[in-house]
Parts: sequence; C-alpha cells; structure tokens
Amino acid sequence: MKTVETFDALQEALLRLKRPLGLVPTMGYLHKGHLSLVKRAKQDCASVVVSIFANPTQFAPGEDLENYPRDIDRDLGLLKGVGTNLVWIPSVKSMYPDDFQTWINVEGVSKPLEGRVRINHFRGVATIVSKLFNSVRPDKAYFGQKDAQQAVVIEQMNRDLNYPIEIVICPIIREPDGLAMSSRNSYLNERERHAALCLSRGLNTARDAFQKGEKHADKIREIVANVVNEEQLAELQYVSCAHPETLEELEGEIESCLLSMAVFIGRTRLIDNIVLLQPNT
Ligand code: PAF
Repeated sequence: MKTVETFDALQEALLRLKRPLGLVPTMGYLHKGHLSLVKRAKQDCASVVVSIFANPTQFAPGEDLENYPRDIDRDLGLLKGVGTNLVWIPSVKSMYPDDFQTWINVEGVSKPLEGRVRINHFRGVATIVSKLFNSVRPDKAYFGQKDAQQAVVIEQMNRDLNYPIEIVICPIIREPDGLAMSSRNSYLNERERHAALCLSRGLNTARDAFQKGEKHADKIREIVANVVNEEQLAELQYVSCAHPETLEELEGEIESCLLSMAVFIGRTRLIDNIVLLQPNT
C-alpha cells in the first residue's frame, strides 16, 4: 500500500494503478463502516484509492473540526489490512489555497434536513468531493447510506456535472446493539453510549409500526420523537419522513420514505436513518 500527500505524487502513483479504479473518500478515524466501503470497492475494482481529509469547509464555525478525532497510523494499519492500494492524505493548504474561490452548490436536495441546520455543509461536501473526483478520476466512488442526504447530494452533483463515475451507496454498518457506526461515537462516554441507542430504537419502532400498517407520515415522525424523548440525555433536533429521492417532507399516507433524524446526546450530534418501503414498491 502506497501513501501520498501531494497532488503530483498522487498523479504519479495513479499511473501505476490498474483500472477499474475505486475511490473511497473519508475524513479519517476509520471504523468498520469505512472498511465495508473499501471491501466493496475491492470486490468491484482492480485498484482502490482511499482519501483521508477532514474537510474544513463542511464544518460550520463552532462545530467539531478542531476536535474531530484523528489517528493516521491506526487508519493506515486498517486500510492496509483490507487491501487498499493507495492512500491520499492531502493538506488543507493544497486543497484550499489562499486564493480559493470556486464552490459547488447542489441547490435543491442540499436545502432540507441537515441543510436546514448545517448551513453551507453540503456546499463544502460537494466541493471537496468534486475536487477528489477531478484529482483521482475514479471509475466508481463509494459512500455510506449512513449519510443519506450526502449520498443524494453527491448523486445529483455527479449527474449534473456529467462525471463518468458510478456512485455506489453501501448499507449502514451497525454495532451489535444497533448503534450506527460513526467516528463521532468516540466522543460518547459510557452513559451517553447507552443513551445513543434511542436513535436506532426509534427507527426500529417506527419500522415495526409501518410494517403493521401505520402509513401516516405524522404518526411515523411522532413514534420516533416519542422514543427519543423518553431518553433523558437525548435532545431531538429533527425527525424527517421524506421522499427518498427528492427529500421533500411527506404528509398524509405514504408508500415509502427516508426516515431520518439528528439527535444531540450530550454535546455529540448523531444522525441515523432507515428507508421504509412497502413490500411491493
Ligand atoms: O462522509 C464523509 O466522510 C465526508 O463527508 C466526505 C464524503 C469524505 C467528504 O469530506
């Protein structure tokens, strides 16, 4: 496994990689969710490139950029273990030089849900992913369903800007007790770690109700909110029952939806989601 930092070293290393080429963009502090993306990329592609870059432009002032967990040596060990061919670790200065002034703004699907509470977050995500795509020029790129809205934004950008890249969205990887894997789980103390189970519990309770015939969007949102609000350490920021592709909030009877939420557990903000589908849709 080769590790490069500069753009020129990346270009040189790319010349030696066999195609098809898979790209797994990450912000580091890797967990089994990231590794599942690399494993999937290994199945599909002859070579796999992983980028590690905690992208400052997708963090708002006051968010956790400074404290975002980092452990490059551990990340490199994990990536080697799953057969990564090349790791690119660019510097902030190289990605955003002082005169940087071009942004990618995916207008519609960036606005609801996370976009309402994390201003400019998806502008930062779309811009860095576009830069990663342009730099690596992969055949396929892999993202997790955990960041469901991010997946929709990137798919839209990929279509709108005619990237010849196949976007592959991989399932959420959960701890055995249901907590969706996230680098931010490392912020949780023991009590908070236990409290954080209210997210998956809320989603599972709503899924069970949906499967038993509850189809009303308001009611589904309410079921999740009730489960989360029962947990003392949890503060629900939003729960959404939205169209899985347009992300428009749904009202009345639904056939399918992206059920998603953001919850503060103490000072840690966690997100989780599930897609509800009627068996014949
Ligand atoms: O999902 C992430 O880790 C990041 O948002 C991404 C896609 C690597 C862009 O910085």
